[in-house]
Amino acid sequence: MSQNGNKEAWGSRIGLILAVAGNAVGLGNFLRFPVQAAQNGGGAFMIPYFLFFLILGIPLMWIEWGIGRHGGKHGHNSAPGMFHVLWNNPAAKYLGSLGLFISLIILIYYTYIESWTLGYSFFSITGKYFNIESFDDMRTFLYSYQGRTESVFFANILPAYIFLLITFGLNFWILGRGISGGIEKLAKIAMPLLFIFGIVIAIRVITFGTPDPALPDNNVLNGFGFIWNPRLEELGNPSVWLAAAGQIFFTLSLGMGTIHTYASYLKAKDDIALSGLTTSATNEFAEVVLGGSIAIPAAVAFFGVSVTTQIALGGAFDLGFVSLPLIFSQIPFGEVFGFLWFLLLFFAGITSSVAMGQPIIAFLEDELGVTKKKATLLLGVLVFICINFVVFFLKNGVLDEMDYWAGTFGLVVFAFIECVLFMWVFKGKKAWDEMNEGGDIRIPKIFYYIMKYVTPVVLFVIMVWWLIKDAFPILMLHGVSEDNIPYIWGTRFLMLILAGLILFFVKLAWDRKYKNA
Ligand code: ALA
Repeated sequence: MSQNGNKEAWGSRIGLILAVAGNAVGLGNFLRFPVQAAQNGGGAFMIPYFLFFLILGIPLMWIEWGIGRHGGKHGHNSAPGMFHVLWNNPAAKYLGSLGLFISLIILIYYTYIESWTLGYSFFSITGKYFNIESFDDMRTFLYSYQGRTESVFFANILPAYIFLLITFGLNFWILGRGISGGIEKLAKIAMPLLFIFGIVIAIRVITFGTPDPALPDNNVLNGFGFIWNPRLEELGNPSVWLAAAGQIFFTLSLGMGTIHTYASYLKAKDDIALSGLTTSATNEFAEVVLGGSIAIPAAVAFFGVSVTTQIALGGAFDLGFVSLPLIFSQIPFGEVFGFLWFLLLFFAGITSSVAMGQPIIAFLEDELGVTKKKATLLLGVLVFICINFVVFFLKNGVLDEMDYWAGTFGLVVFAFIECVLFMWVFKGKKAWDEMNEGGDIRIPKIFYYIMKYVTPVVLFVIMVWWLIKDAFPILMLHGVSEDNIPYIWGTRFLMLILAGLILFFVKLAWDRKYKNA
Protein backbone atom coordinates (compact mmCIF):
# COMPACT_ATOMS: atom_id res chain seq x y z
CA MET A 1 0.00 0.00 0.00
CA SER A 2 1.29 3.42 -0.82
CA GLN A 3 1.11 6.35 1.53
CA ASN A 4 -1.96 7.74 -0.22
CA GLY A 5 -4.02 4.65 0.37
CA ASN A 6 -3.98 3.43 -3.23
CA LYS A 7 -3.42 -0.21 -3.80
CA GLU A 8 -0.89 0.49 -6.50
CA ALA A 9 2.05 2.87 -6.79
CA TRP A 10 5.07 3.58 -8.94
CA GLY A 11 8.16 1.63 -7.93
CA SER A 12 10.70 4.39 -8.53
CA ARG A 13 11.02 8.01 -9.54
CA ILE A 14 12.86 7.17 -12.74
CA GLY A 15 10.25 4.56 -13.57
CA LEU A 16 7.49 7.11 -13.13
CA ILE A 17 9.24 9.72 -15.27
CA LEU A 18 9.91 7.17 -18.01
CA ALA A 19 6.31 5.96 -17.88
CA VAL A 20 4.83 9.45 -18.17
CA ALA A 21 7.35 10.34 -20.87
CA GLY A 22 6.36 7.08 -22.58
CA ASN A 23 2.74 8.09 -22.31
CA ALA A 24 3.54 11.36 -24.09
CA VAL A 25 6.17 10.23 -26.59
CA GLY A 26 4.21 8.35 -29.21
CA LEU A 27 3.43 7.98 -32.86
CA GLY A 28 2.50 11.66 -32.79
CA ASN A 29 6.14 12.64 -32.25
CA PHE A 30 7.55 10.77 -35.20
CA LEU A 31 4.68 10.61 -37.71
CA ARG A 32 2.30 13.46 -36.93
CA PHE A 33 4.74 16.22 -35.97
CA PRO A 34 6.92 16.29 -39.11
CA VAL A 35 3.87 16.29 -41.34
CA GLN A 36 2.17 19.05 -39.35
CA ALA A 37 5.31 21.18 -39.44
CA ALA A 38 5.82 20.63 -43.17
CA GLN A 39 2.18 21.36 -44.01
CA ASN A 40 1.94 24.44 -41.83
CA GLY A 41 4.77 26.74 -42.68
CA GLY A 42 7.89 24.81 -41.67
CA GLY A 43 9.86 26.93 -39.21
CA ALA A 44 6.90 29.31 -38.92
CA PHE A 45 4.90 26.47 -37.39
CA MET A 46 7.42 26.35 -34.57
CA ILE A 47 6.48 29.88 -33.43
CA PRO A 48 2.87 29.08 -32.42
CA TYR A 49 4.04 25.59 -31.47
CA PHE A 50 6.45 26.85 -28.81
CA LEU A 51 4.10 29.59 -27.73
CA PHE A 52 1.36 27.02 -27.12
CA PHE A 53 3.87 24.75 -25.43
CA LEU A 54 4.46 27.56 -22.92
CA ILE A 55 0.91 28.75 -22.37
CA LEU A 56 -0.99 25.49 -22.85
CA GLY A 57 1.37 22.53 -22.80
CA ILE A 58 3.43 23.05 -19.66
CA PRO A 59 0.60 24.61 -17.59
CA LEU A 60 -1.84 21.82 -18.50
CA MET A 61 0.80 19.22 -17.76
CA TRP A 62 1.14 20.60 -14.23
CA ILE A 63 -2.62 20.93 -13.88
CA GLU A 64 -3.14 17.29 -14.92
CA TRP A 65 -0.42 16.05 -12.57
CA GLY A 66 -1.98 18.17 -9.82
CA ILE A 67 -5.53 16.91 -10.39
CA GLY A 68 -4.24 13.35 -10.66
CA ARG A 69 -2.20 13.30 -7.46
CA HIS A 70 -4.99 15.08 -5.59
CA GLY A 71 -7.52 12.48 -6.81
CA GLY A 72 -5.15 9.68 -5.87
CA LYS A 73 -4.98 10.98 -2.30
CA HIS A 74 -8.73 10.45 -2.13
CA GLY A 75 -8.58 6.99 -3.67
CA HIS A 76 -9.61 8.01 -7.19
CA ASN A 77 -7.39 7.01 -10.09
CA SER A 78 -9.61 8.15 -12.95
CA ALA A 79 -11.14 11.45 -13.95
CA PRO A 80 -14.78 11.01 -12.77
CA GLY A 81 -13.69 10.59 -9.15
CA MET A 82 -10.96 13.21 -9.46
CA PHE A 83 -13.45 15.81 -10.69
CA HIS A 84 -15.87 14.78 -7.96
CA VAL A 85 -13.33 15.70 -5.27
CA LEU A 86 -12.58 18.99 -6.98
CA TRP A 87 -16.22 19.99 -7.28
CA ASN A 88 -18.90 18.71 -4.99
CA ASN A 89 -21.61 18.68 -7.61
CA PRO A 90 -23.41 15.75 -9.24
CA ALA A 91 -22.32 16.98 -12.68
CA ALA A 92 -18.61 16.73 -11.87
CA LYS A 93 -18.32 12.97 -12.30
CA TYR A 94 -20.06 13.13 -15.67
CA LEU A 95 -17.68 15.81 -16.87
CA GLY A 96 -14.87 13.54 -15.72
CA SER A 97 -16.35 10.71 -17.80
CA LEU A 98 -14.95 12.49 -20.81
CA GLY A 99 -11.51 11.40 -19.57
CA LEU A 100 -12.60 7.77 -19.87
CA PHE A 101 -14.32 8.26 -23.21
CA ILE A 102 -11.47 10.05 -24.95
CA SER A 103 -8.79 7.62 -23.82
CA LEU A 104 -10.98 4.67 -24.82
CA ILE A 105 -11.68 5.94 -28.34
CA ILE A 106 -8.05 6.85 -28.98
CA LEU A 107 -6.97 3.46 -27.64
CA ILE A 108 -9.25 1.75 -30.17
CA TYR A 109 -7.73 3.24 -33.30
CA TYR A 110 -4.25 3.86 -31.95
CA THR A 111 -3.72 0.16 -31.22
CA TYR A 112 -4.40 -0.66 -34.84
CA ILE A 113 -1.90 1.92 -36.15
CA GLU A 114 0.61 0.68 -33.59
CA SER A 115 0.21 -2.84 -34.95
CA TRP A 116 1.24 -1.67 -38.44
CA THR A 117 4.58 -0.59 -37.00
CA LEU A 118 5.15 -4.06 -35.60
CA GLY A 119 4.20 -5.58 -38.94
CA TYR A 120 6.52 -3.25 -40.81
CA SER A 121 9.44 -3.96 -38.49
CA PHE A 122 8.99 -7.60 -39.43
CA PHE A 123 8.72 -6.75 -43.14
CA SER A 124 11.89 -4.67 -42.83
CA ILE A 125 14.09 -7.30 -41.28
CA THR A 126 12.77 -9.93 -43.69
CA GLY A 127 13.18 -7.56 -46.66
CA LYS A 128 9.58 -8.03 -47.79
CA TYR A 129 9.22 -4.61 -49.39
CA PHE A 130 12.81 -4.31 -50.57
CA ASN A 131 12.18 -4.95 -54.24
CA ILE A 132 9.54 -2.22 -54.50
CA GLU A 133 10.86 0.78 -56.39
CA SER A 134 8.08 3.32 -56.85
CA PHE A 135 5.93 5.41 -54.55
CA ASP A 136 2.79 4.08 -56.09
CA ASP A 137 3.79 0.49 -55.51
CA MET A 138 4.93 1.20 -51.96
CA ARG A 139 1.63 2.92 -51.26
CA THR A 140 -0.20 -0.05 -52.76
CA PHE A 141 1.83 -2.30 -50.45
CA LEU A 142 0.60 -0.25 -47.47
CA TYR A 143 -2.99 -0.08 -48.67
CA SER A 144 -3.21 -3.75 -49.42
CA TYR A 145 -1.67 -4.58 -46.04
CA GLN A 146 -4.44 -2.45 -44.53
CA GLY A 147 -7.03 -4.21 -46.65
CA ARG A 148 -7.92 -1.02 -48.51
CA THR A 149 -7.04 -2.34 -51.89
CA GLU A 150 -6.20 -5.61 -53.60
CA SER A 151 -2.71 -6.30 -54.89
CA VAL A 152 -0.06 -8.94 -55.41
CA PHE A 153 1.57 -8.02 -52.11
CA PHE A 154 -1.04 -9.34 -49.70
CA ALA A 155 -3.82 -11.76 -50.54
CA ASN A 156 -5.96 -10.53 -47.66
CA ILE A 157 -5.95 -8.66 -44.39
CA LEU A 158 -4.78 -11.68 -42.38
CA PRO A 159 -1.16 -10.51 -41.84
CA ALA A 160 -2.43 -7.16 -40.53
CA TYR A 161 -4.86 -8.98 -38.30
CA ILE A 162 -2.17 -11.23 -36.88
CA PHE A 163 0.05 -8.26 -36.00
CA LEU A 164 -2.99 -6.58 -34.49
CA LEU A 165 -3.64 -9.61 -32.30
CA ILE A 166 -0.03 -9.64 -31.13
CA THR A 167 -0.09 -5.89 -30.41
CA PHE A 168 -3.43 -6.09 -28.69
CA GLY A 169 -2.32 -9.09 -26.63
CA LEU A 170 0.88 -7.37 -25.52
CA ASN A 171 -0.99 -4.23 -24.48
CA PHE A 172 -3.45 -6.11 -22.34
CA TRP A 173 -0.84 -8.44 -20.90
CA ILE A 174 1.12 -5.39 -19.73
CA LEU A 175 -2.01 -3.68 -18.41
CA GLY A 176 -2.92 -6.83 -16.50
CA ARG A 177 0.44 -6.78 -14.73
CA GLY A 178 -0.34 -3.42 -13.18
CA ILE A 179 1.37 -0.10 -12.68
CA SER A 180 4.81 -1.04 -11.38
CA GLY A 181 4.86 -4.64 -12.61
CA GLY A 182 3.65 -3.87 -16.13
CA ILE A 183 3.58 -0.24 -17.28
CA GLU A 184 6.68 0.85 -15.37
CA LYS A 185 8.73 -2.17 -16.44
CA LEU A 186 7.73 -1.61 -20.06
CA ALA A 187 8.78 2.05 -19.88
CA LYS A 188 12.14 1.19 -18.32
CA ILE A 189 12.96 -1.10 -21.24
CA ALA A 190 11.21 0.62 -24.15
CA MET A 191 12.06 4.26 -23.51
CA PRO A 192 15.88 3.97 -23.40
CA LEU A 193 15.78 1.74 -26.49
CA LEU A 194 13.51 4.21 -28.26
CA PHE A 195 15.98 7.04 -27.67
CA ILE A 196 18.96 4.93 -28.74
CA PHE A 197 17.20 3.85 -31.94
CA GLY A 198 16.07 7.43 -32.59
CA ILE A 199 19.59 8.80 -32.23
CA VAL A 200 21.05 6.06 -34.44
CA ILE A 201 18.51 6.69 -37.20
CA ALA A 202 18.80 10.49 -36.94
CA ILE A 203 22.60 10.20 -37.33
CA ARG A 204 22.12 7.91 -40.32
CA VAL A 205 19.77 10.46 -41.90
CA ILE A 206 22.16 13.35 -41.25
CA THR A 207 24.95 11.40 -42.94
CA PHE A 208 22.86 10.86 -46.09
CA GLY A 209 24.40 14.08 -47.43
CA THR A 210 23.52 14.26 -51.13
CA PRO A 211 22.54 10.70 -52.04
CA ASP A 212 22.48 11.35 -55.80
CA PRO A 213 25.26 13.74 -56.93
CA ALA A 214 23.35 14.26 -60.20
CA LEU A 215 20.59 15.94 -58.14
CA PRO A 216 22.54 18.31 -55.86
CA ASP A 217 19.43 20.03 -54.50
CA ASN A 218 18.19 16.80 -52.99
CA ASN A 219 20.24 16.84 -49.82
CA VAL A 220 19.80 16.60 -46.09
CA LEU A 221 20.56 20.26 -45.48
CA ASN A 222 17.69 21.27 -47.71
CA GLY A 223 15.62 18.76 -45.77
CA PHE A 224 16.33 20.57 -42.53
CA GLY A 225 15.77 23.85 -44.34
CA PHE A 226 12.37 22.63 -45.50
CA ILE A 227 11.24 21.86 -41.97
CA TRP A 228 12.95 24.77 -40.22
CA ASN A 229 13.02 27.77 -42.60
CA PRO A 230 10.14 29.95 -41.47
CA ARG A 231 7.61 30.71 -44.17
CA LEU A 232 6.43 33.65 -42.08
CA GLU A 233 3.55 34.56 -44.36
CA GLU A 234 1.88 31.35 -43.11
CA LEU A 235 1.47 32.92 -39.65
CA GLY A 236 -1.50 34.92 -40.92
CA ASN A 237 -3.34 31.67 -41.53
CA PRO A 238 -5.47 30.61 -38.51
CA SER A 239 -5.18 26.96 -39.54
CA VAL A 240 -1.47 27.05 -38.74
CA TRP A 241 -2.23 28.18 -35.19
CA LEU A 242 -4.91 25.57 -34.69
CA ALA A 243 -2.65 22.87 -36.07
CA ALA A 244 0.09 23.90 -33.64
CA ALA A 245 -2.30 23.81 -30.69
CA GLY A 246 -3.65 20.42 -31.79
CA GLN A 247 -0.14 19.02 -32.03
CA ILE A 248 0.74 20.24 -28.53
CA PHE A 249 -2.29 18.50 -27.06
CA PHE A 250 -1.81 15.25 -28.91
CA THR A 251 1.92 14.96 -28.45
CA LEU A 252 1.89 15.69 -24.72
CA SER A 253 -1.16 13.43 -24.24
CA LEU A 254 -3.07 16.34 -22.72
CA GLY A 255 -6.84 16.36 -22.40
CA MET A 256 -7.01 12.56 -22.62
CA GLY A 257 -7.34 11.58 -18.98
CA THR A 258 -4.16 9.51 -19.08
CA ILE A 259 -1.68 11.85 -17.36
CA HIS A 260 -4.15 12.24 -14.49
CA THR A 261 -4.33 8.50 -13.99
CA TYR A 262 -0.55 8.07 -14.02
CA ALA A 263 -0.13 10.95 -11.54
CA SER A 264 -2.75 9.46 -9.23
CA TYR A 265 -0.34 6.66 -8.36
CA LEU A 266 2.09 9.18 -6.84
CA LYS A 267 2.52 9.43 -3.13
CA ALA A 268 0.92 12.43 -1.44
CA LYS A 269 4.10 14.48 -1.22
CA ASP A 270 5.87 13.28 -4.34
CA ASP A 271 7.20 16.02 -6.59
CA ILE A 272 5.01 17.27 -9.43
CA ALA A 273 6.70 20.50 -10.47
CA LEU A 274 10.01 19.08 -11.68
CA SER A 275 8.62 15.77 -12.89
CA GLY A 276 5.95 17.46 -15.01
CA LEU A 277 8.57 19.71 -16.55
CA THR A 278 11.01 16.85 -17.14
CA THR A 279 8.44 14.72 -18.93
CA SER A 280 7.35 17.65 -21.11
CA ALA A 281 10.97 18.42 -21.99
CA THR A 282 11.68 14.76 -22.77
CA ASN A 283 8.70 14.69 -25.09
CA GLU A 284 9.85 17.84 -26.87
CA PHE A 285 13.34 16.42 -27.34
CA ALA A 286 11.86 13.28 -28.89
CA GLU A 287 9.53 15.33 -31.06
CA VAL A 288 11.51 18.33 -32.21
CA VAL A 289 15.05 16.95 -32.21
CA LEU A 290 14.46 13.32 -33.17
CA GLY A 291 11.05 13.52 -34.87
CA GLY A 292 12.18 16.57 -36.85
CA SER A 293 15.43 14.95 -37.99
CA ILE A 294 14.21 11.72 -39.53
CA ALA A 295 11.22 11.51 -41.86
CA ILE A 296 11.32 14.90 -43.59
CA PRO A 297 15.10 15.41 -44.02
CA ALA A 298 15.39 11.84 -45.31
CA ALA A 299 12.57 12.34 -47.81
CA VAL A 300 14.03 15.62 -49.10
CA ALA A 301 17.48 14.06 -49.47
CA PHE A 302 16.15 11.25 -51.61
CA PHE A 303 13.17 12.74 -53.40
CA GLY A 304 13.56 16.52 -53.27
CA VAL A 305 11.44 19.29 -51.83
CA SER A 306 8.49 19.23 -54.19
CA VAL A 307 7.93 15.47 -53.95
CA THR A 308 8.29 15.66 -50.16
CA THR A 309 5.65 18.38 -50.07
CA GLN A 310 3.33 16.08 -51.96
CA ILE A 311 4.09 13.23 -49.57
CA ALA A 312 3.47 15.45 -46.55
CA LEU A 313 0.15 16.52 -48.02
CA GLY A 314 -0.74 12.84 -48.32
CA GLY A 315 -1.00 12.65 -44.53
CA ALA A 316 0.80 11.25 -41.52
CA PHE A 317 1.26 7.72 -42.78
CA ASP A 318 2.78 8.26 -46.21
CA LEU A 319 6.03 9.65 -44.84
CA GLY A 320 6.55 6.90 -42.31
CA PHE A 321 5.16 3.91 -44.17
CA VAL A 322 5.81 4.80 -47.80
CA SER A 323 8.75 7.15 -48.29
CA LEU A 324 10.99 5.79 -45.52
CA PRO A 325 10.62 2.14 -46.61
CA LEU A 326 11.57 3.23 -50.14
CA ILE A 327 14.69 4.83 -48.71
CA PHE A 328 15.56 1.85 -46.52
CA SER A 329 15.35 -0.41 -49.54
CA GLN A 330 18.05 1.70 -51.23
CA ILE A 331 20.66 2.03 -48.47
CA PRO A 332 23.22 -0.45 -47.09
CA PHE A 333 21.86 -2.32 -44.08
CA GLY A 334 18.45 -0.90 -44.91
CA GLU A 335 16.82 -3.97 -43.36
CA VAL A 336 18.37 -3.09 -40.02
CA PHE A 337 17.57 0.63 -40.20
CA GLY A 338 14.01 -0.15 -41.27
CA PHE A 339 13.67 -2.60 -38.43
CA LEU A 340 14.95 -0.04 -35.93
CA TRP A 341 12.66 2.70 -37.28
CA PHE A 342 9.50 0.64 -37.05
CA LEU A 343 10.47 -0.86 -33.71
CA LEU A 344 11.07 2.67 -32.43
CA LEU A 345 7.55 3.54 -33.57
CA PHE A 346 6.22 0.41 -31.92
CA PHE A 347 7.87 1.28 -28.59
CA ALA A 348 6.62 4.85 -28.88
CA GLY A 349 3.14 3.53 -29.59
CA ILE A 350 2.84 0.87 -26.94
CA THR A 351 4.07 3.08 -24.11
CA SER A 352 1.26 5.47 -25.08
CA SER A 353 -1.48 2.92 -25.71
CA VAL A 354 -1.12 1.25 -22.31
CA ALA A 355 -1.62 4.72 -20.84
CA MET A 356 -4.92 4.96 -22.70
CA GLY A 357 -6.11 1.66 -21.30
CA GLN A 358 -5.30 2.40 -17.68
CA PRO A 359 -8.00 5.03 -16.88
CA ILE A 360 -10.92 2.64 -17.51
CA ILE A 361 -9.20 -0.20 -15.68
CA ALA A 362 -8.58 2.14 -12.74
CA PHE A 363 -12.20 3.30 -12.85
CA LEU A 364 -13.55 -0.25 -12.77
CA GLU A 365 -11.18 -1.12 -9.93
CA ASP A 366 -11.69 1.79 -7.59
CA GLU A 367 -15.20 2.95 -8.33
CA LEU A 368 -16.86 -0.41 -8.98
CA GLY A 369 -14.65 -2.73 -6.93
CA VAL A 370 -13.84 -4.97 -9.91
CA THR A 371 -10.57 -6.92 -9.68
CA LYS A 372 -7.70 -5.92 -11.95
CA LYS A 373 -7.95 -9.19 -13.82
CA LYS A 374 -11.64 -8.74 -14.54
CA ALA A 375 -11.27 -5.04 -15.32
CA THR A 376 -8.51 -5.79 -17.83
CA LEU A 377 -10.58 -8.55 -19.39
CA LEU A 378 -13.69 -6.38 -19.63
CA LEU A 379 -11.83 -3.53 -21.28
CA GLY A 380 -10.04 -5.99 -23.53
CA VAL A 381 -13.29 -7.48 -24.81
CA LEU A 382 -14.82 -4.06 -25.42
CA VAL A 383 -11.77 -2.71 -27.22
CA PHE A 384 -11.40 -5.84 -29.27
CA ILE A 385 -14.97 -5.68 -30.54
CA CYS A 386 -14.58 -2.01 -31.47
CA ILE A 387 -11.17 -2.39 -33.14
CA ASN A 388 -12.77 -4.61 -35.73
CA PHE A 389 -14.79 -1.67 -37.01
CA VAL A 390 -11.57 0.28 -37.49
CA VAL A 391 -9.83 -2.65 -39.17
CA PHE A 392 -12.56 -3.56 -41.61
CA PHE A 393 -13.87 -0.08 -42.38
CA LEU A 394 -10.59 1.81 -42.40
CA LYS A 395 -11.07 2.94 -45.98
CA ASN A 396 -14.51 4.29 -45.12
CA GLY A 397 -13.14 6.90 -42.72
CA VAL A 398 -13.91 5.24 -39.37
CA LEU A 399 -10.44 5.94 -37.97
CA ASP A 400 -10.44 9.57 -39.09
CA GLU A 401 -13.86 10.19 -37.59
CA MET A 402 -12.77 8.83 -34.22
CA ASP A 403 -9.52 10.74 -34.42
CA TYR A 404 -11.31 13.99 -35.04
CA TRP A 405 -13.89 13.82 -32.26
CA ALA A 406 -11.74 12.19 -29.60
CA GLY A 407 -8.13 12.82 -30.64
CA THR A 408 -8.52 16.43 -31.78
CA PHE A 409 -11.66 18.25 -30.73
CA GLY A 410 -12.26 16.21 -27.56
CA LEU A 411 -8.83 17.02 -26.15
CA VAL A 412 -9.36 20.75 -26.10
CA VAL A 413 -12.86 20.42 -24.63
CA PHE A 414 -11.64 18.21 -21.80
CA ALA A 415 -8.62 20.42 -21.19
CA PHE A 416 -10.86 23.48 -20.95
CA ILE A 417 -13.14 21.78 -18.43
CA GLU A 418 -10.30 20.56 -16.22
CA CYS A 419 -8.57 23.92 -16.28
CA VAL A 420 -11.71 25.78 -15.19
CA LEU A 421 -12.53 23.18 -12.54
CA PHE A 422 -9.07 23.21 -11.00
CA MET A 423 -8.15 26.87 -11.26
CA TRP A 424 -11.59 28.40 -10.65
CA VAL A 425 -14.03 26.00 -9.02
CA PHE A 426 -11.50 24.26 -6.77
CA LYS A 427 -9.85 27.71 -6.51
CA GLY A 428 -6.56 28.86 -7.95
CA LYS A 429 -4.78 29.27 -4.63
CA LYS A 430 -5.55 25.71 -3.49
CA ALA A 431 -4.65 24.35 -6.92
CA TRP A 432 -1.37 26.24 -6.85
CA ASP A 433 -0.47 24.87 -3.42
CA GLU A 434 -1.40 21.38 -4.55
CA MET A 435 0.86 21.58 -7.61
CA ASN A 436 3.78 22.93 -5.58
CA GLU A 437 3.45 20.58 -2.63
CA GLY A 438 6.51 18.35 -2.30
CA GLY A 439 8.02 20.07 -5.33
CA ASP A 440 11.73 19.73 -6.06
CA ILE A 441 11.45 23.14 -7.69
CA ARG A 442 8.93 25.92 -7.24
CA ILE A 443 6.81 26.59 -10.28
CA PRO A 444 7.55 30.21 -11.33
CA LYS A 445 4.75 32.46 -10.09
CA ILE A 446 3.98 33.74 -13.57
CA PHE A 447 2.50 30.34 -14.35
CA TYR A 448 -0.14 30.91 -11.70
CA TYR A 449 -1.52 33.78 -13.77
CA ILE A 450 -1.06 31.88 -17.00
CA MET A 451 -2.98 28.87 -15.66
CA LYS A 452 -5.70 30.97 -14.15
CA TYR A 453 -6.29 33.47 -16.94
CA VAL A 454 -4.36 32.82 -20.12
CA THR A 455 -4.74 29.05 -20.50
CA PRO A 456 -8.54 28.88 -20.07
CA VAL A 457 -9.14 31.88 -22.32
CA VAL A 458 -6.88 30.51 -25.06
CA LEU A 459 -8.52 27.10 -24.72
CA PHE A 460 -11.94 28.66 -25.03
CA VAL A 461 -10.98 30.62 -28.13
CA ILE A 462 -9.48 27.52 -29.76
CA MET A 463 -12.53 25.47 -28.86
CA VAL A 464 -14.98 27.92 -30.38
CA TRP A 465 -12.77 28.50 -33.39
CA TRP A 466 -12.50 24.78 -34.00
CA LEU A 467 -16.21 24.36 -33.51
CA ILE A 468 -16.95 26.82 -36.27
CA LYS A 469 -14.11 25.99 -38.60
CA ASP A 470 -13.97 22.19 -38.42
CA ALA A 471 -16.39 20.59 -36.01
CA PHE A 472 -19.53 21.96 -37.58
CA PRO A 473 -18.60 21.14 -41.19
CA ILE A 474 -17.36 17.69 -40.12
CA LEU A 475 -20.57 17.11 -38.22
CA MET A 476 -22.54 18.05 -41.34
CA LEU A 477 -20.45 15.55 -43.36
CA HIS A 478 -18.92 18.17 -45.63
CA GLY A 479 -16.59 16.55 -48.12
CA VAL A 480 -17.61 12.99 -47.20
CA SER A 481 -18.28 10.77 -50.19
CA GLU A 482 -21.79 9.35 -50.56
CA ASP A 483 -20.48 5.81 -50.09
CA ASN A 484 -18.89 6.60 -46.76
CA ILE A 485 -21.81 8.42 -45.15
CA PRO A 486 -23.36 5.27 -43.61
CA TYR A 487 -19.97 4.32 -42.13
CA ILE A 488 -19.49 7.75 -40.61
CA TRP A 489 -22.92 7.55 -39.04
CA GLY A 490 -22.09 4.05 -37.88
CA THR A 491 -18.92 5.34 -36.22
CA ARG A 492 -20.84 8.10 -34.49
CA PHE A 493 -23.41 5.62 -33.32
CA LEU A 494 -20.66 3.39 -31.92
CA MET A 495 -19.08 6.34 -30.12
CA LEU A 496 -22.47 7.30 -28.69
CA ILE A 497 -23.00 3.77 -27.42
CA LEU A 498 -19.59 3.82 -25.76
CA ALA A 499 -20.31 7.23 -24.24
CA GLY A 500 -23.66 5.94 -22.99
CA LEU A 501 -22.02 2.86 -21.47
CA ILE A 502 -19.47 4.98 -19.65
CA LEU A 503 -22.11 7.34 -18.30
CA PHE A 504 -24.20 4.38 -17.17
CA PHE A 505 -21.31 2.83 -15.26
CA VAL A 506 -20.35 6.13 -13.71
CA LYS A 507 -23.90 6.59 -12.47
CA LEU A 508 -23.99 3.01 -11.23
CA ALA A 509 -20.74 3.49 -9.33
CA TRP A 510 -21.92 6.65 -7.65
CA ASP A 511 -25.34 5.21 -6.83
CA ARG A 512 -23.62 2.34 -5.09
CA LYS A 513 -20.86 4.25 -3.38
CA TYR A 514 -22.71 7.28 -2.17
CA LYS A 515 -26.29 6.09 -1.78
CA ASN A 516 -25.94 6.15 1.99
CA ALA A 517 -23.81 9.25 2.09
N1 ALA B 1 1.08 11.53 -27.01
C1 ALA B 1 0.88 10.36 -27.78
C2 ALA B 1 1.45 10.52 -29.14
O1 ALA B 1 2.09 11.48 -29.41
C3 ALA B 1 -0.56 10.00 -27.82
O2 ALA B 1 1.27 9.66 -29.97
